[in-house]
Amino acid sequence: MHWNVKIDSPEERASILREVERLQPWYQSYDLADWLQIEGPAGGTALQGMDALGFPADFSGKTVLDVASNAGFLSYIAKHRGAERVVGVELDPVHIERAQLIGRLLGLDAEFLKMGVHEVSLELGMFDVVICSGLLYHIADPSNVLLALSAVCKGTILVESEFILDPIHTHMARFIEGTYRDDETNWWIYGPECMAGMVRAAGFRTAEFKGFYREPHGQVSEEGIPVGGRGLLIGTK
Ligand SMILES: C[S@@+](CC[C@H](N)C(=O)[O-])C[C@H]1O[C@@H](n2cnc3c(N)ncnc32)[C@H](O)[C@@H]1O
Repeated sequence: MHWNVKIDSPEERASILREVERLQPWYQSYDLADWLQIEGPAGGTALQGMDALGFPADFSGKTVLDVASNAGFLSYIAKHRGAERVVGVELDPVHIERAQLIGRLLGLDAEFLKMGVHEVSLELGMFDVVICSGLLYHIADPSNVLLALSAVCKGTILVESEFILDPIHTHMARFIEGTYRDDETNWWIYGPECMAGMVRAAGFRTAEFKGFYREPHGQVSEEGIPVGGRGLLIGTK
């Protein structure tokens, strides 16, 4: 996604570049202008992949909750695609600073709250759409979190995650003891149908795995665990 941020003043550009540098390292990438590229390991291809699997092209008039909003990439995509209100919830205050800088550059307003996903409650309001991308494998008790998200969702949940690739294990999940991909905050790799069942059990009428947009078949992590693919699951009330 190219955002085409228009700033001509060299002084203003230099000040923005200093701010971007101060906020390193970024996780999400932003292609804001030819002079303003932010590079993070999340890269720019996930959105294209999710779009192909049914991530909404149109958020017109919707209220959107983006949990684990990081630097706000999907929050601003929802806003750009017409969302009326977007709230991002994120544990790390530096990610919130990053998101707020991006909002100023894009001229888009989204609220960002420093909050753990377990604290999400009706005090935030009810939302038409909940975006839950790259989060559930970091959560030791995913059913509790899905229940909390279901309680504030009146429409659709978009779950992007790493999922077990092997179709034989689609109804199962793998618990990670120790690290996975050198990250001790990874707790689970879910089979697609396992996650679909958990989403339905949390109160969504339907939950459908829409497919993988990245499929690293045959790769094994340094801990010896088969690497999952990245995919999208959509639940509806
Ligand atoms: C893999 S990144 C995904 C970011 C973004 N949603 C995306 O898809 O690009 C995981 C994010 O979850 C945040 N996070 C981890 N645990 C969280 C929690 N319990 N509550 C809220 N955010 C959390 C991290 O700070 C980080 O920004």
